[in-house]
Amino acid sequence: MLSNKRIAVVGAGHMGAALIGGMLRAKLTAPKNITASRHSEDALAALRKDWGVNTTTDNKKAVAGADIIVLAVKPQVSPQVLAELSSVVKPGQLVVSLMAGITTKTISQKLGQPCPVVRSMPNTPCLVDAGATAVAAGAHAGPEGLALAEKIFSSVGQVVALPETAMDAVTGLSGTGPVYIFMVIEAMIDGGVKMGIPRDVATKLATQTVLGAAKLVIETGKHPAILKDEVTTPGGTAINAIHMLETKGLRSVLIDAIVTATQRSQELSRLYGD
Ligand SMILES: NC(=O)c1ccc[n+]([C@@H]2O[C@H](COP(=O)([O-])OP(=O)(O)OC[C@H]3O[C@@H](n4cnc5c(N)ncnc54)[C@H](OP(=O)(O)O)[C@@H]3O)[C@@H](O)[C@H]2O)c1
Repeated sequence: MLSNKRIAVVGAGHMGAALIGGMLRAKLTAPKNITASRHSEDALAALRKDWGVNTTTDNKKAVAGADIIVLAVKPQVSPQVLAELSSVVKPGQLVVSLMAGITTKTISQKLGQPCPVVRSMPNTPCLVDAGATAVAAGAHAGPEGLALAEKIFSSVGQVVALPETAMDAVTGLSGTGPVYIFMVIEAMIDGGVKMGIPRDVATKLATQTVLGAAKLVIETGKHPAILKDEVTTPGGTAINAIHMLETKGLRSVLIDAIVTATQRSQELSRLYGD
């Protein structure tokens, strides 16, 4: 599906490089089909060394002749990059944007071309091939454009397709979500340390517990509440801990965090998106 496509990754930083690595490890395409661009010559040299891809500091050269243009620059530099690319982008090129808060409509308008545009919201676990990404098709991106974007992100984790109106909520849930879990892990480690477990051991136990619990939900397909009930024995440790977590409002706090992050994403989209 991607094997004969030429792909330009504009802004090959953390996310862009993760996608390059993911696509090549998954053998979706060959290094010669990928061109990465950014300013730092040293970082580009590292990409050449690690992955054997083509590199350039010239965004226009990167996208010339590409079938797919992945925009992985920060949203703040998008006006400059979109203006720069507007003179070279052709209507048939598929644009896949990672830029948080920038709508497909804005991207099309600023490029001045009716290109198919797919917007995505990945998260940092993409760096370890365990990402959660949502993709949304813009007005000119048909099922084919969406399928190509899904294929790219599937090389670094799970992908779902949603309407673009859901992207702020996705930002609040999975885009920002790793932060919530990092805090949960940190707190669990501290709890273990407080109860006398050495920090390195507590870290191993806490991280594996979070990973294992997520895996159990995914692999059994059971509702988390059922898995919780299954380990809750009458008068045991779990029910006492659950009572404490409910008293302190753990679930409400996490729901509120997602609501407030979604609202902030909506505000930022209004401020910087157009
Ligand atoms: N990290 C996340 O959790 C996350 C989640 C969802 C979405 N995203 C989105 O993913 C995108 C990339 O994020 P990131 O974390 O990978 O950022 P990043 O590591 O800073 O990567 C962006 C890269 O863009 C390059 N760049 C800056 N100006 C440029 C220009 N004019 N032309 C070409 N390249 C340019 C920078 O390299 P040079 O300085 O060498 O040019 C930098 O390495 C952002 O739009 C972000 O909203 C990130």
